[in-house]
Amino acid sequence: MPKVTAALIGAGQRGARAYGPYGLEFPEELQFTAVAELDANRRMKFQEAHGIATENSFEQWELLLDGPKLADAVLICTQDKLHFEPAKRALEQGYHVLLEKPMAVTPEECVQLGEIAVKHDRVFAICHVLRYTEFYKQLKQLLVDGAIGQLIAIQHTENVEHRHQAHSFVRGNWRNSESSSPMILSKSCHDMDVLLWLADSDCTKVSSFGSLTHFRTEHAPLGAPLRCTDGCPVEHTCPYYAPKMYLEREDWAGLAIRKVVSDDMSREAVLHELRVGPYGRCVYHCDNNVVDHQVVNLEFANEVTIAFTMCAFTMEGGRTMNLMGTGGQIRAHMEKNMIELSNFSTGETKTIMIDAPAEGHGGGDFGIMRDFIHLVSEGGKEASLTGAKVSVQSHLMAFAAEKSRLESRVIEMEHYRLSLLG
Ligand SMILES: NC(=O)c1ccc[n+]([C@@H]2O[C@H](COP(=O)([O-])OP(=O)(O)OC[C@H]3O[C@@H](n4cnc5c(N)ncnc54)[C@H](O)[C@@H]3O)[C@@H](O)[C@H]2O)c1
Repeated sequence: MPKVTAALIGAGQRGARAYGPYGLEFPEELQFTAVAELDANRRMKFQEAHGIATENSFEQWELLLDGPKLADAVLICTQDKLHFEPAKRALEQGYHVLLEKPMAVTPEECVQLGEIAVKHDRVFAICHVLRYTEFYKQLKQLLVDGAIGQLIAIQHTENVEHRHQAHSFVRGNWRNSESSSPMILSKSCHDMDVLLWLADSDCTKVSSFGSLTHFRTEHAPLGAPLRCTDGCPVEHTCPYYAPKMYLEREDWAGLAIRKVVSDDMSREAVLHELRVGPYGRCVYHCDNNVVDHQVVNLEFANEVTIAFTMCAFTMEGGRTMNLMGTGGQIRAHMEKNMIELSNFSTGETKTIMIDAPAEGHGGGDFGIMRDFIHLVSEGGKEASLTGAKVSVQSHLMAFAAEKSRLESRVIEMEHYRLSLLG
């Protein structure tokens, strides 16, 4: 297969750590030839690791995209609010584009991006990595094979995990819908996408409820200071005490999360960040406004119904599912890589264990890279599994859920979609 060249915009956690390594592991498939990254250290590290020429290393994404074309494809891995403009510009410049989720932070921009992608006829893939995991591929295959007859309903839970909520959605980058996006989009556009795929039909109606109940100032323990490191009276019992979360709890996300707090992972550097940066703040004294629990009900044109719950207050993280069909049932646990398949005729239940790596979203990060690189290498004749059409629809499901939650009403998807067209 002809080798693909790519430019990276945003060499942060996702760009440099989730997708960048694909180029190092499969140099015969992919070569990074340019990078744009605001942070000088990150930019230099990526440039050196991938042997990128100094003249192709930029501080700002505009500088990379305003010049002559430097690669076949662009990977856009900046934060949520910086997806739409670079993606639009890259498509217009004739690049194939791999864009981190969410596509954009408004429904109008998502629709517009979908139209631009179709117009420019490039490979355009959104990083809905779940579709590329062995776990979800096998679930989908079981449904396609009719293993449970006709699919009737799905119960799906996104167990966010209490510390993950505190890290990302109370202290971290996705804590406030004004600076990033509503949590149903930032966290659960993955779930909307995979549910749309499994239901295999257009979504017709959406309703949702939820709120930010716990991580609020009025729930701060008596005497809790603004920062954990300022002598908190409950440091020994609070599960969110930052030095414990980031420096002691190796059982929990451990090193990966520590890297987010500080590029330099020494104890002194992390402690310094906790004293001055966002991750040392008391979880009850942050500027967060996104929900800590939300439910969404979905109805599809083929009459499949789905009840989805996202909740911060779980001991472990991960996705659990119950798929109910006319001929059987599937219970599935993504983090355990386990699928239980029951058959109503035989009365038997068999357990399928999936062989998937624990890291990189169960193999999804490299899975989407492999698929994208291959599609580009073949000249972009085929659409991505997570291309513009399905991604616009799943994003609109998330926006509709937020609208329903805020306006306390059922959203009819076709009316909603038409209203966005103006
Ligand atoms: N697909 C998934 O499963 C998944 C998982 C986590 C996060 N994400 C998404 O990935 C995206 C990136 O998240 P992250 O955790 O890697 O963020 P990050 O903050 O670690 O990385 C973003 C990088 O963009 C750089 N940047 C900012 N402005 C820039 C500019 N003008 N030009 C060039 N570079 C610029 C920043 O310096 C930073 O290094 C987010 O939108 C997030 O929602 C997706």
